[in-house]
Amino acid sequence: MQFGNSAAAGLLQQRGRPDLTIVGGVSVGQVIAFANQKGGVAKTTTTLNLGVALVERGKRVLCVDLDPQSNLTMSQGIDPDDLERTMFDVLVHKTPIEDVILRREIDLAASSIDLAGAELALSSMIGRERALQKALLPVRSAYDYILIDTPPSLGLLTINALTASDGVIVPVQCEYLSLRGLIQLENTLTMIRENLNPDVRIKGILPTMFDGRTLHSREAVEILQENFGDLVFETKIRKTIRYAEAPVKGTSVLKYDSKGNAAKAYRDLAGEVLRNGKAK
Ligand SMILES: Nc1ncnc2c1ncn2[C@@H]1O[C@H](COP(=O)(O)OP(=O)(O)OP(=O)(O)O)[C@@H](O)[C@H]1O
Ligand SMILES: [Mg+2]
Repeated sequence: MQFGNSAAAGLLQQRGRPDLTIVGGVSVGQVIAFANQKGGVAKTTTTLNLGVALVERGKRVLCVDLDPQSNLTMSQGIDPDDLERTMFDVLVHKTPIEDVILRREIDLAASSIDLAGAELALSSMIGRERALQKALLPVRSAYDYILIDTPPSLGLLTINALTASDGVIVPVQCEYLSLRGLIQLENTLTMIRENLNPDVRIKGILPTMFDGRTLHSREAVEILQENFGDLVFETKIRKTIRYAEAPVKGTSVLKYDSKGNAAKAYRDLAGEVLRNGKAK
């Protein structure tokens, strides 16, 4: 099944940049957003577990919680209601991002439900789409990877994430209806490239909640590969309850069940991200 060439071609055109970016003459790490306007496709799970897998490989990683649901913050055992300052203050009050970073398995720029008010507060500001990009500038050289978890919508928070990013990883649940949503995301990315960030590209499409026992899951991966070729990561994240269990303990799955297959999947993904930083 084909989605129509323009969507696939649009996704495929943005490739082949080196792993490191140069900003103001200094080489800095990569900023990657995890985006898909569909809810519950494993954006947060992937942001955290890929982040921890990269830390295991010796990389310096900052994860930014840009979702008012604060699932990323909670999945590191933090109660968002206890936080004095969050990403809301960074975006709206220009609080330095260093002031909201907590050191956990990864460094985490934390959020709370307050962030829900950021879209409205930002909407009347000049440069509203670039608030995150600006906030990240002072810390970009301190990290090899800055991973941004986004909410399940294509609103101003996600637009800020895409504007601040070098690349986007798109987790896609292995089912037909999830695949259709990719076209909407590509339309948003086209708009971002035209107006805000000409360099942002899809770094990879990650099949998640894969169930190899069902024909539907296998077919969904085939459709992705047919349409998006080697933009689809070789790593597929299988369906397992481990991913839901780990956040209850306030940890990544790599710590919760370090030797299990769920942890291995994200270690494999980290290997691909490190290898393919240049190619995808
Ligand atoms: N591979 C998987 N197998 C089974 N369950 C998973 C898998 N990955 C994530 N989950 C679970 O599915 C739910 C949704 O995952 P997650 O919160 O990461 O998605 P999301 O895309 O960030 O959601 P939202 O759009 O609401 O932010 C969570 O309960 C999570 O623990
Ligand atoms: Mg989430």
